[in-house]
Amino acid sequence: MKIAMVGSGYVGLVSGACFADFGHDVVCIDKDQSKIDRLHDGIMPIYEPGLAELVDGNVKAGRLTFTTSLAEGIKGADAVFIAVGTPSRRGDGHADLSFVYAVAKEIGESIANDMVVVTKSTVPVGTGDEVERIIAECKPAHKLAVVSNPEFLREGAAIGDFKRPDRIVIGAEDEFGREVMRQVYRPLFLNESPILFVNRRSSELIKYAANAFLATKITFINEMADLCEKVGANVQDVSRGIGMDGRIGSKFLHAGPGYGGSCFPKDTLALLKTAEDYDSPTRIVEAVVKVNDSRKRAMGRKVLDAIGGLESARGKKVALLGLTFKPNTDDMRDSPAIAVAQTLTDAGVEVAAYDPEGMKLAKPLMPEVTMCSDAYEAIKDADAVAIVTEWDAFRALDLNRVKSLAKAPVIVDLRNIYRADEMAAKGFTYTSVGRP
Ligand SMILES: NC(=O)c1ccc[n+]([C@@H]2O[C@H](COP(=O)([O-])OP(=O)(O)OC[C@H]3O[C@@H](n4cnc5c(N)ncnc54)[C@H](O)[C@@H]3O)[C@@H](O)[C@H]2O)c1
Repeated sequence: MKIAMVGSGYVGLVSGACFADFGHDVVCIDKDQSKIDRLHDGIMPIYEPGLAELVDGNVKAGRLTFTTSLAEGIKGADAVFIAVGTPSRRGDGHADLSFVYAVAKEIGESIANDMVVVTKSTVPVGTGDEVERIIAECKPAHKLAVVSNPEFLREGAAIGDFKRPDRIVIGAEDEFGREVMRQVYRPLFLNESPILFVNRRSSELIKYAANAFLATKITFINEMADLCEKVGANVQDVSRGIGMDGRIGSKFLHAGPGYGGSCFPKDTLALLKTAEDYDSPTRIVEAVVKVNDSRKRAMGRKVLDAIGGLESARGKKVALLGLTFKPNTDDMRDSPAIAVAQTLTDAGVEVAAYDPEGMKLAKPLMPEVTMCSDAYEAIKDADAVAIVTEWDAFRALDLNRVKSLAKAPVIVDLRNIYRADEMAAKGFTYTSVGRP
């Protein structure tokens, strides 16, 4: 199969490289000339474990190429994927579909053979209809199907997720679209990854329902963690105790500073807007968004409490370990660390931070924070150390060194990666989330 991937960001590049690895002939297209130039030079635009090797192998095998020209890239393609961004629209939280529609128009103007256009970007219900209308307006002389195929990969584990998905969701309205998609995913089909064929609108909604459900699960356990702190229970035991129930499941039950990242915040907001447009309120998701928003700054206040509270915060120093919204990515979009750092600097606290991959993208988002070259430089003379992202590098800190470098032996562990009894034995004043 010949596949064109429009948008070579997180999803487009990972999907394109994986499709090439399956043996398809893939062209990754992006309008960002510098991104394409760097890809030609073998430089990855994002940090994702295993991606550089995967791209390199498939480029060398002649199955993966890059271009800025959509018209060139889609020539002869059996399937053209749209994998451009759908950020929150400024002001109202609707998904901004301008990138998707711009691509649809360009495809309509360039189609030179029968093809299936596949929306992989996360898009609200009905977007596929509009993509179809925009392309049809260009009066292409070839057979066309517009299909929805949402992506469920997780940053940090993207390649494994793409190659061994829990399921592949295809929303198609005709047999031409379904058959091409069967061929595209044939290698996974042979691997027995389940493929779910549904109509296009169901497929579009599945993606939002999945993300809203996961965001709800996280927010639920975060509120349970707050309750645990009040009643003397341990949220990790509560998580284990409920997660062992097969109907609930153990994943996404880790209490922490609230969800962030490039998907959950914008997708929950966009779902609320769709629900509002169709006069079908989703009140649970409304509550999730509100609770999660207030949680991030509440975590900043938790750190303030550990250094004696707001009143005495001015002039003190806090070391933040981890800035990205989760480990193994450099993605800073909506990371809880931004609100935590802001709460601290607003209170007059000096903040020094270290993140293994995220500092370049973090710097412009938190100009008042001093970026350090490693965890120990950040910890030097700190009144408290706050672990915000659970990078492996922070799981085995040299605690004696931490104690000798810091001004006070105070640790706030927002990811519950250490044990309270071990910390107490080492002489630390230790606070975590939802644990006695
Ligand atoms: N990042 C994730 O973990 C993830 C997971 C599942 C789904 N998604 C969804 O996938 C979509 C893409 O997300 P992402 O994180 O890969 O975004 P991204 O910002 O990393 O990449 C988008 C790319 O599209 C390019 N682009 C924009 N307009 C273009 C055009 N007209 N022609 C060619 N290229 C164009 C941009 O230059 C950019 O490189 C979003 O809808 C997102 O919600 C993301």
